[in-house]
Amino acid sequence: MALSVQRNPHPRSEAERAAALVDPGFGQFFTDHMVSIEWTADGGWNAGAVLPYGPLSLDPATSALHYGQLIFEGLKAYRQPDGSIATFRPEANAARFARSAHRLGMPQLPAELFLESVRALVEADQQWVDSAPESSLYLRPTMIATEVGLGVRPSNAYTYLLIASPVGPYFRSGVKPVTVWLSTEYTRAAPGGTGDAKCAGNYAASMIAQAQAQQQGCDQVVWLDAVEHRYVEEMGGMNLCFVYGSGPDARLVTPKLTGTLLPGITRESLLTLAQDLGYRSEEDMISVEEWQAGNASGELTEVFACGTGAVITPVGHVKGAAAEWTVGDGSPGPVTMQLRKALLDLQTGRAPDPHGWMYRLT
Ligand code: PLP
Ligand code: COI
Repeated sequence: MALSVQRNPHPRSEAERAAALVDPGFGQFFTDHMVSIEWTADGGWNAGAVLPYGPLSLDPATSALHYGQLIFEGLKAYRQPDGSIATFRPEANAARFARSAHRLGMPQLPAELFLESVRALVEADQQWVDSAPESSLYLRPTMIATEVGLGVRPSNAYTYLLIASPVGPYFRSGVKPVTVWLSTEYTRAAPGGTGDAKCAGNYAASMIAQAQAQQQGCDQVVWLDAVEHRYVEEMGGMNLCFVYGSGPDARLVTPKLTGTLLPGITRESLLTLAQDLGYRSEEDMISVEEWQAGNASGELTEVFACGTGAVITPVGHVKGAAAEWTVGDGSPGPVTMQLRKALLDLQTGRAPDPHGWMYRLT
């Protein structure tokens, strides 16, 4: 059922919106509306609504503020050549949101409601979806525990929120390769923990290492497995892909889902897209030693990060406490850039969609 819409009586002027769209960065500007849907133990999900974007009023004893029952998602809406707006695999985001909810002891938002919230918000804020290259409307679904009280147990009330933010490239430097820091001092996720859920706590646990990466002159942290600090898992907000060989013999390898890394939708799509382009692709464990040795022998040719926000961003240089190396010659590799173009062309409707990944919103 369609969500009710309460239009913002004071939307941004056309001039204000245009100014925001010139160089939106990532997550700095927000549209005129948001979606809110509430859940209670007695009534389940209420009808929800599209509302004017605005601050929340929360009791200081609200459970999410203390115990962090908070999950989120990230997906983007893209302007298509015919002027319509579409998003990429939102059913996969809805399914991951439900899995994250389950892991955090939260209620699962039905996929139809998730999809309807995305459709309704994008319809209300469609002027915020720019058609400039690399621009899109980033959608951020979130769910927070709203019971008031300090009891340590699953909350009996939750609010689902959806906000939207016009975005340009995630990294201001565009497709300039990033430098990464191998974190051996800290751990993001341990077996049995919440690493494969998209919950706020994972990001909170990553901040100190991200700060350390920056102190080391790196852009991003690379997380290693918690047990041996040896196997490459992912970055702070992206998965990693490794390219072995070159030309038609190139092979894409991404770290296997062991339960401690986020099953990225971009990552999964690229395993298929690489095969569509004639490359082999697979999931495997990759150790830091193999990365360094493969790089030194020339067998490992390219490395890139992938995710909704980052799209595909080449990794140019790797630094750790014990070693440091440049990936290939440090510049974006051809397979990386080919996959990046193929993915963006598909998402912006400039290439066919053989797998039915695009979902029309307007
Ligand atoms: N890993 C982490 C920790 C992330 O936050 C994200 C971003 O959502 C990803 C990987 C990539 O996931 P996706 O491709 O679904 O955006
Ligand atoms: C995304 O790419 O959607 C993310 O959620 C990554 C980061 C912004 C947290």
